[in-house]
Amino acid sequence: MIPTIEWDGQYVRMIDQRKIPSKIEWYVCRGYRDVIRAIEKMVIRGAPAIGVAAAMGLALGGGSIRTNSVRIFMDKFRKISEEMLLARPTAINLRWAVERMGNLAEKMKTAGVDEIKKTLKYESQMVLAEDIEINRKMGSNGEKLIPTGATILTHCNAGSLATGGYGTALGVIRAAHEKGKKIKVIADETRPWLQGLRLTAFELMEDQIPVTVITDNAAGSLMRQGRIDVVITGADRIAANGDVANKIGTYQVAVLAKTNKVPFYVAAPLSTIDPTTKNGDTIPVEEREANEICQIGRLKIGPPGVSVLNPAFDITPAKYVSAIITEKGVVRPPFRKGIKNLLA
Ligand code: MRU
Repeated sequence: MIPTIEWDGQYVRMIDQRKIPSKIEWYVCRGYRDVIRAIEKMVIRGAPAIGVAAAMGLALGGGSIRTNSVRIFMDKFRKISEEMLLARPTAINLRWAVERMGNLAEKMKTAGVDEIKKTLKYESQMVLAEDIEINRKMGSNGEKLIPTGATILTHCNAGSLATGGYGTALGVIRAAHEKGKKIKVIADETRPWLQGLRLTAFELMEDQIPVTVITDNAAGSLMRQGRIDVVITGADRIAANGDVANKIGTYQVAVLAKTNKVPFYVAAPLSTIDPTTKNGDTIPVEEREANEICQIGRLKIGPPGVSVLNPAFDITPAKYVSAIITEKGVVRPPFRKGIKNLLA
C-alpha cells in the first residue's frame, strides 16, 4: 500500500493523487498554504485524508509563527485555522481536525509557544496513526456483513489513499479479502475525477483483489441483473439522522440498490459524523469548476461556453442506507438513536 501523507523532517509530503496511476510522485508542502492548496486542488482528497492533511497543515502553520507571546501565537493560529476551514466545504473531517488541533493549542496555553508547536506536530502524527487503526477496526466490524463470494460495488475511492491508510469502504473490502472470503469488486469509474478508475482500481490491483471497472451508468443495469450482492461506499459527512453526503452519484446508486434489494452500506469513522447537522439538507455541497467536466487533461471536449453544473457530492437520505459501519460498531436504522448512542 503506498502511503497517503507523512512528515518528511520539517515538511509534510503527500502522494499527488491527480497523477495516479501514471506517476507516483510526492507533493511537498513547506507551509500551511501549500496544504490548503493541495486540498483545494485534489492533490489529496477523501474525507479522512483531508482531516489528516488539515492537522498536519496546522502543525506546519503553527510551527511557522514567529513569536514568544502565547497571545499573539493563538491569534495567528486561529487565523490560520479559519483559512484551513475554507479549503473544501463538504467533508466534516476537515472541521473535526481543525477543532481537535485548536482545542489542544488552547489547553497547552500555559506551556509556552515552543511546547505548543511541538505538541501540535505530535498530535498531527497521532491523527494519522489513529486513522489507520480506526480503519482496521472498521474493516473487522464491516467484513462480517460481507457474504463469502460476494460481488461488491463501490463508488469513488474510499481506500487507503482517501484516508491515513487501509481505507473505510475499501478497508471493509480488504478485511473480507484477508479473511479469505473470495470477494470481487466492481468499481464505478466516478466521473468527473475518475477516482474509481484511477485510484480504487489501482489500489485493489496492487493488493490482488479482483476488480472490474464500469461506467457510472452501468451500475443500475448490473444490479437489475443480480450481479451485485452488496454496495459499500465511504462518506464525507453523516448527519444526526443518518443522511449521508458522499461523492456525486452515490444517491442514485443507493436508490438503485434499494429498488433491487441490494444492501447499501456506508463505512465511515466517527469523525465523519456531524451531530450538529440535523439532516442532509443543510450539508454544504461543493460546486467545482466546469472544466472538470468539459476538459480531459488539456483537451477541451465540450462546446465552448456551454453551461455546466458540477456538484462534487450528493446527499443520500437515511432511508436508503442499510447500515453504517464505524470503528465502534455497526449501526442500523433508526439511525438517529443509534448515532446518538455511538457518540455518547
Ligand atoms: O472529491 P473527493 O475525491 O474528496 O471525494 C471523496 C469521497 O466522496 C469519498 O467517498 C469520501 O470522502 C469517503 S473517503 C474514505
